[in-house]
Amino acid sequence: MNAPRLDRHRLPHHIAVIMDGNGRWARQRGRPRVFGHRAGSKAVRRVVRACRRLGIEVLSLYAFSAQNWGRPADEVHHLMDLLGEFIIKEWQEIMERGIRVVHIGAIRRVPAEVRSRLKALELASQRNRDMTLVLALSYGGREEIVRGAQRLVSRAAAGKLRPADVDADCFSRALYTAGLPEPELLIRTGGERRISNFLLWQCAYTELFFTDVLWPDFKVADLRAAIIDFQGRSRRFGLTGEQWEERDG
Ligand code: IPE
Ligand code: IPE
Ligand code: MG
Repeated sequence: MNAPRLDRHRLPHHIAVIMDGNGRWARQRGRPRVFGHRAGSKAVRRVVRACRRLGIEVLSLYAFSAQNWGRPADEVHHLMDLLGEFIIKEWQEIMERGIRVVHIGAIRRVPAEVRSRLKALELASQRNRDMTLVLALSYGGREEIVRGAQRLVSRAAAGKLRPADVDADCFSRALYTAGLPEPELLIRTGGERRISNFLLWQCAYTELFFTDVLWPDFKVADLRAAIIDFQGRSRRFGLTGEQWEERDG
């Protein structure tokens, strides 16, 4: 039997990635963890380019979690520096390729210089339409949900929202990801089979793909393999298989 091929007409609109395994990649080479993060930023460039070429509409990358602030200060500094560097180095290509950059997460905690660079890139790229690159930075899914609840509660307290009007759509609009489609495919590299506080609300019906490949080793072929695997899944959203097929026509 022929191996399944990637069907360019049935691509996920939104792919989310938990880029894990940089530290282990470095350790395997007897190098400090930060060496792995630097190699990881090359994988970021590869995957962004590949998704743009394929025509993926939204790519969300988990770059730094709310919990990652608890890592050794050296590592945190280095990760922030890498982010600042990434913005400078990729700026031109992001603009040339029509990529809109947005962040999700509590970036007020990010060092001011990096934060202002990121905001400048978001502003410069806001009218780009060929792909949206979502950077999850200082991001936590629970933190996002709590923040959303706080926003709704304060609107209700101000008499601008009735409790009965709070439904799933209304709640979605109170999240960082307001206006973005939910991811159809979530890829986690590095071998762990967990979500680690990423897009908890948004992943309710997302297809999960776990690979042992460490993030710095993640290649375009691995991305394609994840998409092909996704294309072989049967998504039912709680209905029976028959109902779902009828609905598809
Ligand atoms: C992912 O790689 C990058 C970040 C969390 C910022 P890790 O640094 O978690 O690598 P491992 O899991 O220790 O190998
Ligand atoms: C998830 O990886 C966060 C990012 C990839 C940014 P972690 O390495 O922080 O997750 P755990 O600790 O294995 O759950
Ligand atoms: Mg990790």
